[in-house]
Amino acid sequence: GDNLAAILVIFGGTGDLTHRKLMPALYNMLLDGLLPKHFRVVSIGRRDKTEDQYREDIKSSIEKYSRNKIDESKWAVLREMIKYYRFDFRDHDGYAGLKAYLDDLDAASKTKGNRIYYLAVAPEYFETIVQGIHLSGMTKSKEGWSRLVIEKPFGKDLATARHLNQKLLEVFDESNIYRIDHYLGKEMIQNIMVLRFCNLIFESIWNNKFIDNIQISLTEKLGVGTRGEYYEKSGAMRDMVQNHIMQILSLVAMEPPVNLNTDSIRTEKLKVIEAIEDITPEFLRDNVVFGQYGRGVIDGVPVVGYREEEKVPKDSNTETFVALKLHINNFRWAGTPFYIRTGKRLGIYSAEIVIQFKNLPNILYFKDSNIQEPNLLVIRIQPNVGVFFQFNTKDFSTHHDIVATKMDTSYAIPGQGNTPEAYERLIYDILRGDSTLFSRWDEVEAAWKVADKIISYRSQSKLNFPNYDAGSMGPIRSFELLAKDGRKWWNI
Ligand code: BG6
Repeated sequence: GDNLAAILVIFGGTGDLTHRKLMPALYNMLLDGLLPKHFRVVSIGRRDKTEDQYREDIKSSIEKYSRNKIDESKWAVLREMIKYYRFDFRDHDGYAGLKAYLDDLDAASKTKGNRIYYLAVAPEYFETIVQGIHLSGMTKSKEGWSRLVIEKPFGKDLATARHLNQKLLEVFDESNIYRIDHYLGKEMIQNIMVLRFCNLIFESIWNNKFIDNIQISLTEKLGVGTRGEYYEKSGAMRDMVQNHIMQILSLVAMEPPVNLNTDSIRTEKLKVIEAIEDITPEFLRDNVVFGQYGRGVIDGVPVVGYREEEKVPKDSNTETFVALKLHINNFRWAGTPFYIRTGKRLGIYSAEIVIQFKNLPNILYFKDSNIQEPNLLVIRIQPNVGVFFQFNTKDFSTHHDIVATKMDTSYAIPGQGNTPEAYERLIYDILRGDSTLFSRWDEVEAAWKVADKIISYRSQSKLNFPNYDAGSMGPIRSFELLAKDGRKWWNI
């Protein structure tokens, strides 16, 4: 519809994110009829390129990263929407020119003064750009709205996140700030609430009386690749736990919201993070495991250890793996542990949530040789998408044997990894002004409070890195973490 008319201004128009995710996502959206009729993309870059060159570069990225093949007539439509604006966003004086350019484009393109400012740049530039937008009066168009989209990392700890947020709030209202967590754009992450709140057989037993433990496991085969410099400052805690894992945990553990409004949902999510039991150093001593990969073999190919990666110091103590046990201290969850695990260069690529239900008494069928397999519900986020459910039945061929029946509705669909798909939904929501799938400030803040404690504990720990081989499933201690509770990680 016409009310979705807008100019999308991308700071970082020649960067990786724009090429690999944003532009392919826009192209896919166009094919799906999700782009407004009056829509422009203004890509800002420092490089000296003509608009034509820029558009050709984008076309080849779409060819490479989009799930859809290039259709020349469709591409011609998107091509016309894309503008290249050369400008160094560190240059304060340049913003006035950008403003004038956008105002003219607005008038010529019927985009109604609606703006999306997308910061697809390194975090050290967030403040500068937002200041530039502010001082040049770009948020003060007579008509229309202005929204700010900000990529992670949102700060590097609680203090820097607060500072950054303060700076953003001087210019944009909370309701116009879209903090991206691309996991929230994934199909099965959005499905968590549906599975829980649309199925009596799940929701009625979704608590500590019936659930033995919950596991959230995001394991990657990839190493840090060329991102050593970023990753050194980040580690798995900031890269995956503070954001993606905390978001998943909130959705899995939240109370039913009173309605599906953005803030009703976010308020319930927030309460989960706030209910995480105080994580003291004494608690962490027994309940967290950090790891860093050494050399090893992935899919038959030898790979180097983390300390040998590009731009990583030889004595780096950055964690590429974390396993952690958490307690959520509320009536629904007290006593049911949540185990989380994430790491790079592991033997399996998968993101899943495992709900392990409690065992029945070991009587009747489970008296003798039959070992009881628990009911398991697995929410598969990637690479396959769907749900796995395990329950017990009688073996057809014998009188007594009980076997675990494995029902799996999951299937492979392209692009549940870090691909443009998640961005399609997110960009569409930004256009519509729906921020449900974005993190509200207080959620980010609460997640940092938790992450900071764990990171600070880590910096005081004696780490014996590297402590797992590439291609393994992580440090031995991460298995002991569950074994000492009489449990195990499920790789279903
Ligand atoms: C990003 C992290 O946020 O998520 C990366 O910075 C990680 O290190 C990626 O590889 C994983 O995302 P996905 O969608 O591939 O699971």
